[in-house]
Amino acid sequence: MKIAVIGTGYVGLVSGVCFSEFGFNVTCVDNNEQKIKNLQNKQLPIYEEGLEKLLVKNMQAGRLFFTCDLAKSVKDADIVFIAVGTPSKDDGSADLSYIYSAVDQLAPHINSNAVLVIKSTVPVGTTKAVKSYLQEKGVNISVAFNPEFLREGAAVDDFMSPDRVIIGVENKKAKDVLRNVYRPLYAFNIPIVFTGLETAELSKYASNAFLAVKIGFINEIADLCEVCGADVKEVALAMGLDKRIGDKFLQAGPGYGGSCFPKDTLALSFFSKKFGVKMSIVDETIKSNNSRRKKMINKIFDACNHDVKDKHIAIFGVTFKANTDDMRESPSIEIVNALVDGGAKISIYDPSFSEQAKGIFKDVIWSSDVYANCENADAIVIITDWPEFRAINLGELRKRVKEPLMIDLRNIYKVSDVESFGFKYHSVGRAHK
Ligand code: UGA
Repeated sequence: MKIAVIGTGYVGLVSGVCFSEFGFNVTCVDNNEQKIKNLQNKQLPIYEEGLEKLLVKNMQAGRLFFTCDLAKSVKDADIVFIAVGTPSKDDGSADLSYIYSAVDQLAPHINSNAVLVIKSTVPVGTTKAVKSYLQEKGVNISVAFNPEFLREGAAVDDFMSPDRVIIGVENKKAKDVLRNVYRPLYAFNIPIVFTGLETAELSKYASNAFLAVKIGFINEIADLCEVCGADVKEVALAMGLDKRIGDKFLQAGPGYGGSCFPKDTLALSFFSKKFGVKMSIVDETIKSNNSRRKKMINKIFDACNHDVKDKHIAIFGVTFKANTDDMRESPSIEIVNALVDGGAKISIYDPSFSEQAKGIFKDVIWSSDVYANCENADAIVIITDWPEFRAINLGELRKRVKEPLMIDLRNIYKVSDVESFGFKYHSVGRAHK
């Protein structure tokens, strides 16, 4: 079976590489020539654990290719995945122009027996609309919608051993072809759920929005903990032990970021209104998450007695979450900029050494390790929960800083541990000395 994947962003690239690891012949297509050239030279545009190894292996095995030639790749393909971006427009709706541009380009060339599968996150009704659009152009092919649930930083594992695979289909042919594509996962008893197109489209938004609500909920519980004397980590533990609730996505922090939750909650809110339904819980979550960053900024200013001018603030982690170099919608952007505006001198250590971050924060010092980052610091602010921060030698940190003040927006440490080294410790939703 020959697969073409259009779009070599996060979803397209990981899916393409992993399909080739399943043993299929895969061609990944992108109109960015430099990106394709780099990929042909085995250079990845993103950092993702385990991806490079699989890419090299499958290219060497002669079943993974990269090209800008969309026409040729779709002509040969039995199945074509569209995995281009659907970013937010100013009004919050999903911008489908990349989808339709891909459809326009593939329409004259796609094999009439092929199945066209949309993998990008798209509003309910899009896959059917694409089918009608193709029919108007005289192209009659089967379509399907197959959302991706992979997380940045764990994308390869999520693809290779997902909790579930959801496939929206319109007919038996699409179902059979996609069942064959995901056949390698049957061996591991991964549930593969076939639904209608609309159900699969909505399942993706509903899943992301639900997780965003969960995060928004625990963040508000954290606010309550701070004034009533409860401990949010313990509340989350108590809640999570109930199997109906589950313990995941209950970590209070600076609010969700990334390229998915902010965009998908907005799009869900937007298109549901078009159907005449208001997603009031999602709307409140969006508002609550937007105000979260301001709250974190206030927390830092409060801890610094509202005077950060000329203070050296050492930032730990700026990516939107750990194990990625992605800065999209990262809470750190607003937080660091507010500190810079307040006159603080900022140094940053981020284990990804993110080039994206270097493009965003200009007037800051970039440190090569966590200890150097704290030399003579007036305060430490932890924004991203990189695993390597957990094992930091707090005694060594204490020796390096000028003022023992730590503001931890991810609740990485036990309060008593940090305080035992003489730090004044502020975290999220917990009581401190
Ligand atoms: C998310 C979903 O988890 C994936 O299932 C989905 O496929 C993906 O979006 C997508 O739509 O493509 P991702 O954006 O990579 O994946 O990141 P998450 O691990 O979900 O984290 C999102 C944000 O929530 C991060 O800013 C993270 O720090 C924050 N978060 C997460 C919390 O603040 N608390 C938590 O308990 C968990």
